[in-house]
Amino acid sequence: LFSSVEMAPRDPILGLNEQFAADTNPDKVNLGVGVYFDENGKLPLLACVQAAEKALMDAHKPRGYLPIDGIAAYDNGVKALVFGTDSDVIKQGRVATVQALGGTGGLKIGADFLKKLNPNAKVLISDPSWENHRALFTQAGFEVGTYRYYDAATRSLNFDGMLADLKAAAPGTVVVLHACCHNPTGYDITPAQWAQVIDAVKAGKLTAFLDMAYQGFAEGIAEDGAVVGEFVAAGLAVFVSTSFSKSFSLYGERVGALSVVCSSKEEADKVLSQLKIMIRTNYSNPPTHGGAVVAMVLGDPKLRAQWEEELAGMRTRIKAMRRALAEGLKAAGVKQDMGFITTQVGMFSYSGLSKDQMVRLRNEFGVYGTDTGRMCVAALNEKNVGYVCASIAKVI
Ligand code: LMR
Repeated sequence: LFSSVEMAPRDPILGLNEQFAADTNPDKVNLGVGVYFDENGKLPLLACVQAAEKALMDAHKPRGYLPIDGIAAYDNGVKALVFGTDSDVIKQGRVATVQALGGTGGLKIGADFLKKLNPNAKVLISDPSWENHRALFTQAGFEVGTYRYYDAATRSLNFDGMLADLKAAAPGTVVVLHACCHNPTGYDITPAQWAQVIDAVKAGKLTAFLDMAYQGFAEGIAEDGAVVGEFVAAGLAVFVSTSFSKSFSLYGERVGALSVVCSSKEEADKVLSQLKIMIRTNYSNPPTHGGAVVAMVLGDPKLRAQWEEELAGMRTRIKAMRRALAEGLKAAGVKQDMGFITTQVGMFSYSGLSKDQMVRLRNEFGVYGTDTGRMCVAALNEKNVGYVCASIAKVI
């Protein structure tokens, strides 16, 4: 049965974790996966999460099955966060939201639903995009193409190319867009450019799928989520996947969601019923712990304020590390202008380094980034940034 099975390649991102764990270099630094580490290089357990966990543990609740679409308070918390508390679209009951296994889970439920809905549609992702976008939509049965996004030669956005590719897409094409903190490049388009993208999506009858895995890591929760409101205001039926892996530092709990904006409550109810089939036939219903924690934090004004403060702390520290990296590279003798690192946002910097340079960084210095040159600046700290800069300077 298995004689023809071939060895699959290692995952381009999570596979690096395995390699990193096996690396005996005492100076090794993991800038591969998108995970925030604090100033001591530790994965934080947020105080708001600890408080919610304590309250949940003290309540000694039994562990029954959750509803297929998850905890109602969680889904409502997600809606308020993504669309705004006073949003008309929520008041009108036009959003179907389900709890999902991380942002990836939200994307996969949406992909499976879209495949059923529109089996011949093509999917377009940005060039480059998060590696798993292509794999996930391909696995769901779609043909996946790209729209231009980043110009390696100028190390900047190719917005004209992006717009032209969206305008050329066939009606029904699913366009995967990064709502904020573009992964891997760290370059986001401006609000004025978003307006043009929205016009193109509307005029071309495309389906927008917004991946929002980093809400709060660019400028703030409301600021980073604003683009969702613009799609809704344009009257579009938009998909939004949410992840709390990074913003709550709850990576392993797999806490995410999928929201689908519909044109009426009746339509949203029907869509929800279909999403529930996707969930039920994949993993039945979501796990309790992470969703309960996030629901409690989002629903409690004191914990919510504490979360916003802690999230702002992560955001601010990442920005400081961007500056430290850019300045450190200069001090280490790198002649080319690396100032772009401080204009990028979110967890990643697309360094412009080649695959060969990234492999050397890994093999000779124990500094791990992806082959595409992406580095997770959220894993830098005062103690490792100097070593990282010196290592990069040696391979450039
Ligand atoms: C990343 O891009 O590194 C993260 O989103 C983690 C992952 O699942 O790939």
